[in-house]
Amino acid sequence: MTISRRQFLQSTLALSMIPRVAMASAAELVAQTSIQQIAPQGYPETPVWSYSGGVPGSEIRVPQGARLRRKLVNMLPQPTTVHWHGIRIDNAMDGVPGLTQEVVQPNASFDYDFVVPDAGTYWYHAHNQSVEQVARGLYGPLIVEEASGPDVDQDLTLMLDDWRLDPESAEISGDFDNGHDLSHAGRLGNLVTANGKFDPSYPVQASERLRLRLINAANARIFDVALDGLAGWIVALDGMPLDAPLRVENSFPLAPAQRADVIVDVLAGSGQTASIVSVERDGAYGLVKFDVSGISARVAGAGIDPLPANLMPEVAAQNTPLHRMIMQGGAMRWLESASLGGAELSGRELAQLGRFWALNGYAERPEDPFLDARLGSVHRIEFANETAFAHAMHLHGHHFRLILQDGTLGPWRDTVLVERGQVRQVALVADNPGDWLLHCHMLGHAASGMMSWFRVT
Ligand code: C2O
Ligand code: CU
Repeated sequence: MTISRRQFLQSTLALSMIPRVAMASAAELVAQTSIQQIAPQGYPETPVWSYSGGVPGSEIRVPQGARLRRKLVNMLPQPTTVHWHGIRIDNAMDGVPGLTQEVVQPNASFDYDFVVPDAGTYWYHAHNQSVEQVARGLYGPLIVEEASGPDVDQDLTLMLDDWRLDPESAEISGDFDNGHDLSHAGRLGNLVTANGKFDPSYPVQASERLRLRLINAANARIFDVALDGLAGWIVALDGMPLDAPLRVENSFPLAPAQRADVIVDVLAGSGQTASIVSVERDGAYGLVKFDVSGISARVAGAGIDPLPANLMPEVAAQNTPLHRMIMQGGAMRWLESASLGGAELSGRELAQLGRFWALNGYAERPEDPFLDARLGSVHRIEFANETAFAHAMHLHGHHFRLILQDGTLGPWRDTVLVERGQVRQVALVADNPGDWLLHCHMLGHAASGMMSWFRVT
C-alpha cells in the first residue's frame, strides 16, 4: 500500500468530532508514549509522544489573570521540559533547559506554577530536543479567556500540524537529524492534521458566527490560510488582540508557532461544506471542513468588534537602540564560518557537526546575550535574513510590535516571519526580568544553529 503526499493532503475523508477527555488528573501533565490514528482510516495507528494520552494534549483553558499549575511527569525515554509559548511568564517557569531550568529526566517531574497575564490563544510544547519531541506530538493548546469574550456561537481551537509518516507503517519517520531538512526549509511532512486528525470535519449551522483559534504546531510548514464558504476577520495574532479586526481577503501566512484568532460567519448553506484551506503555488489543500446543517437564528451582518485589549506596555520606537541580528547560512548561502564551542569553524566543519545556520556569527546559543537590557528599556531588533529561506523568529517572555515599512507600529506578536532576503524590525519593551531565548521556530533550524538569547535585568 502506498500513499502519495497528494492523497494524504487532498483526500476528502470526513471524521466527526470526538470531544477530548483529559485522561490524567487535571494537575498532571504526563509526557508519555501513546498510540493514535493520525493517518486516514484504513492506515495503521501511529505511535506518538503525547501529553496525557492525546495529540494535541488536552486544551488548558483558564481565565485571564489565573494561576496555572501543572506537574510535568516524564514517562518518556528522553529528558524533557515544557515551554508555555507566548505567555509573558515568570522566567523560572519558561521551560528552557540550560537557561531557566534543568531538564526533567525520565521518571522525574517538575512543577510548573505561574500566572497568565494576557487573554488569548497560546500553546504549550516540549522544549528539549524540540525538533524530535514536538514532531512526535508533544504539544497542546493553552487558551486564556477574556472576562467578556465576543458574541459567537462556537469557540473552536484548531491546532495544525504536519507529520512525516512512513506511508506503509504510518510510523513517524525518525530522521530528525536529516541534514538536507536542517539546511533547507526544515522538516516538512507528508500529512497535515488539525487537532491530531487528518481532514477533520466540524458541524456548524448556516449563518453561525464562529471564533476559530488557529495554532501552527508544525516543525517547519508555513500555512497560507484561506477561507472557503466563510467570511472572516482576524481579531488577534499570537494571542494579542488587533486594534481593529482585519478582513481576510485572500489568504494570510501562519508560520510555525504563530496563532491567529479569526471570527468567521458561515456563508455556506445547509447541506454544503465550508472549509479552511492552505494555498500553495499549484492549488490548495484542505485543513479543516465544516459540515453545514440547519440555519442559525443569528441575524447576519453584525459588525465585528475588537477583542478587549491586554494591558501592554507603551512602545515608543523612535530613537531607541537598534540591535541587528544577521541571519546566515543554509543551502545556497552556505556559511563561510561561524563560532561554535568557543572556536571559529569553517562552514564545512560546521556542516559535519550538523550546524548550518548562524545568528550574528554564532552557530549555537552564545555565552553572552545578544542583548543585555535594563528592565523597562525599549529596544528595536532588526532581523536581516541573508539566507535563501524564510524563518519564524520567536522571542521568549515578551511580545514585540512589528515596525511596518512606513515606520509605524504594527501588531503585537511573539513570532515574526522573516522571508528570504527580508529585513524586518520589531520593537520591544524589556519588561520581564530574566534570561530569554530568541530563536527560529523552524525547529530544525533552531537545532542547527539559529539560537540566541537576551537578558533583562
Ligand atoms: Cu515555542 Cu522556544 O518556543
Ligand atoms: Cu529558520
